[in-house]
Amino acid sequence: MAKGIAVSKKRVAILISGRGSNMEALIAAAAQESYPAQIALVLSNRPGAPGLRRAAAAGIATEIVDPTLYGNDRERFERALQTKLEAYRIDLVCLAGFMRLLSPSFVGQWHGRMLNIHPALLPAFKGLDTHARALAAGVKIHGATVHMVVPEVDCGPILAQAAVAVREGDTADTLAARVLEAEHRIYPAALKFLAEGRVRVVDGRCRIDGRADADGLLFVPNI
Ligand code: GAR
Repeated sequence: MAKGIAVSKKRVAILISGRGSNMEALIAAAAQESYPAQIALVLSNRPGAPGLRRAAAAGIATEIVDPTLYGNDRERFERALQTKLEAYRIDLVCLAGFMRLLSPSFVGQWHGRMLNIHPALLPAFKGLDTHARALAAGVKIHGATVHMVVPEVDCGPILAQAAVAVREGDTADTLAARVLEAEHRIYPAALKFLAEGRVRVVDGRCRIDGRADADGLLFVPNI
């Protein structure tokens, strides 16, 4: 790349419903000049989401699309969502604690361009209350997954995973905190690869530049 020619960064929208700690991790990563994406928008379905204030404090544009204003009609809600994403010329979407189910047609519009982070090692513990369920199951390893979004909830090609140890005496809260730290590492790493255009899906599995391994996308701490 010749000096002086700006490389165009992918424009990312982060969709949140709550506190937005993953959002903050993405914003921090994207603040680095060499990062291939910029956070162009943080959008919440909940007007009171604390993450909105955090995003605004970081100088990021925020929007609210409140489903109650659309009579909880999913089609109208998603049309409003799509209109916002188009208005901000969004290339990629990151779901970060966005607690709304999205229809197959909305997901289809973002095929290959929308990521989600889930607080478990998928395909184990899809759905809610993952930490309590992991403890109840007695697993020794738990973690988090970043995956491409497909119509089936908590499915889709896996892009990055982080493992954490389950410790004696863990509660759902202590385990959640350990997993959350790992989430903050894998989400920026996964988005980077996607924004660089290096992710391909082959037979339902993510491949990075044709490599079979998961360099940079698998975090396993000392256990
Ligand atoms: C995160 O743990 C994320 O993995 C989870 O919600 C939390 C949001 O925290 N997402 C889901 O459970 C989606 N199924 P954050 O608002 O601090 O990023």
